[in-house]
Amino acid sequence: MDETSNQMDIFDVMYNCRAMRRLKPDAVPEDILIQLIEAANKAATASNTQPCRWIITRDSEVKQKLADINRNAIKRFYPAPDPSAPQSAFEWQMEHMQNIPALIIACIKTGPEKPAGSFIDGVTTGGSIWPAIQNLLLAARASGLGACPTTLPLADRAAAKAALGIPEGVEPICLIPVGYPMGKFGPVTRLPVAKILHWDRW
Ligand SMILES: Cc1cc2nc3c(=O)[nH]c(=O)nc-3n(C[C@H](O)[C@H](O)[C@H](O)COP(=O)(O)O)c2cc1C
Repeated sequence: MDETSNQMDIFDVMYNCRAMRRLKPDAVPEDILIQLIEAANKAATASNTQPCRWIITRDSEVKQKLADINRNAIKRFYPAPDPSAPQSAFEWQMEHMQNIPALIIACIKTGPEKPAGSFIDGVTTGGSIWPAIQNLLLAARASGLGACPTTLPLADRAAAKAALGIPEGVEPICLIPVGYPMGKFGPVTRLPVAKILHWDRW
């Protein structure tokens, strides 16, 4: 397996697509960023409605606003880190989000036909954006780019929408910081299949 080329086997890509939070500030070429959106755009959507929309933010001011929302959400929802412990990747991301070269925001067009918050809304809305996000994460991994799905930078929805200029009828769902990784890629650790799989009946 060549870890940095796009010649990786699809299973190698899936099995080694860890959340990469420590990213270099080096710019990612625009054609590669567009390729990530091309890959995301190939995912299935409910009734093929294709409601996913994307923002790639490289603007310092916008990135700083999103980094501030992320920091505020972490301070609100998580205990303060132990100052004597080594800095976690999560804290590193909080400190450096504004320096990450590209923040990709996965958005979805919402419609009046599905009452917001209903189960079916969750299934079709979430079910349309997350396959696209996963495609994007896999494409990033196959391109040697680090990425991580994050939702805390969108926790203050009004502030995030204002910072990004998102109009009515569109909701930001996930922010994916993308850049060249500082550390090494590695395998994901998950529950064994024997613990999560049922044959024929639960
Ligand atoms: C819906 C969702 C929301 C997430 N939100 C955040 C987030 O706000 N910040 C963050 O650092 N990681 C976030 N993550 C990343 C998860 O923490 C990460 O995917 C998980 O710990 C597995 O990591 P691994 O793939 O490296 O094993 C989120 C992941 C998902 C699927």
